[in-house]
Amino acid sequence: MPLVPLNEVLGKADREGYAVGAFNCNNMEIVQAIARAAEEEKAPVIIQASQGAIKYAGLNYIVALVKQAAAEISVPVVLHLDHGTSFEQVLQCIRHGFTSVMIDGSQYPLEENIRLTRKVVEIAHAVGVSVEGELGRIGGTEDNISVSEAEAFFTDPDEAKRFVEETGVDALAISIGTAHGRYKGEPRLDFERLKKIDALVPCPIVLHGSSGVPDESIREAVRLGVRKINIDTNIREAFVGAIREYLPDHPDEIDPRNILRPAREAATAIIREKIRLFGSSNKA
Ligand code: G3H
Ligand code: 13P
Ligand code: ZN
Repeated sequence: MPLVPLNEVLGKADREGYAVGAFNCNNMEIVQAIARAAEEEKAPVIIQASQGAIKYAGLNYIVALVKQAAAEISVPVVLHLDHGTSFEQVLQCIRHGFTSVMIDGSQYPLEENIRLTRKVVEIAHAVGVSVEGELGRIGGTEDNISVSEAEAFFTDPDEAKRFVEETGVDALAISIGTAHGRYKGEPRLDFERLKKIDALVPCPIVLHGSSGVPDESIREAVRLGVRKINIDTNIREAFVGAIREYLPDHPDEIDPRNILRPAREAATAIIREKIRLFGSSNKA
């Protein structure tokens, strides 16, 4: 199937009350794992490229890999820019064929975030590309800030309403207690805040840093309106974990295909598990 924009898959998810998995890719094996998992689960899927992925693989490779993967399967696939850093980068991605972009202006003051995001929405919507914005700061688990310090960065529900109204974004990433990377303890999400945001904000809500969030909290977040769930770290753990497991038993192995095959299988398995948890199986 050709690539589709984000608003197409999230619109259906919103009407039917489930979330679509947004999985980060960095190489061919991970793109194949995401595509296979989605096809096997008959689920719509978002394949996203971060700043690190673009630096590592290059924009041309990412687009070619994802387009090929989408062409070989029958479920809707969105190619999404994860944490886009500038207007220029967004334009480059649109020109290369991305069907969705995130512009992450969360480090700027509200007015500036609104201005930058609105500018991106204007040009992206003109060519049928969807836009995700971010309000509130989603840090990394390595940032070493305490829970009370992190709360200062949580998304304010009234600001979220204003941000969405004034920018026209298709999806909003919020900060309610998740962080990127591996958690040291168990993350505790601010569901009251999520409830308020969902009541005020007309567009679908995005949860970043979702690896390592307990299944029960993910189910509750979906119940309260989260419609796009970002997963990267869990794929890395599965992929690299399978390689670590394989190598000690095969010290003489020099064929990368034999090393990467179990890694690709492990990534497919965890992605299938997440798709089922998000409720998007059989929703393609
Ligand atoms: O949002 C961050 C993602 O987990 C990917 O980060 O730039 O290291 O690929 P990365
Ligand atoms: P995790 O690596 O914590 O799953 O976060 C992924 C993410 O939010 C990508 O934008
Ligand atoms: Zn993120």
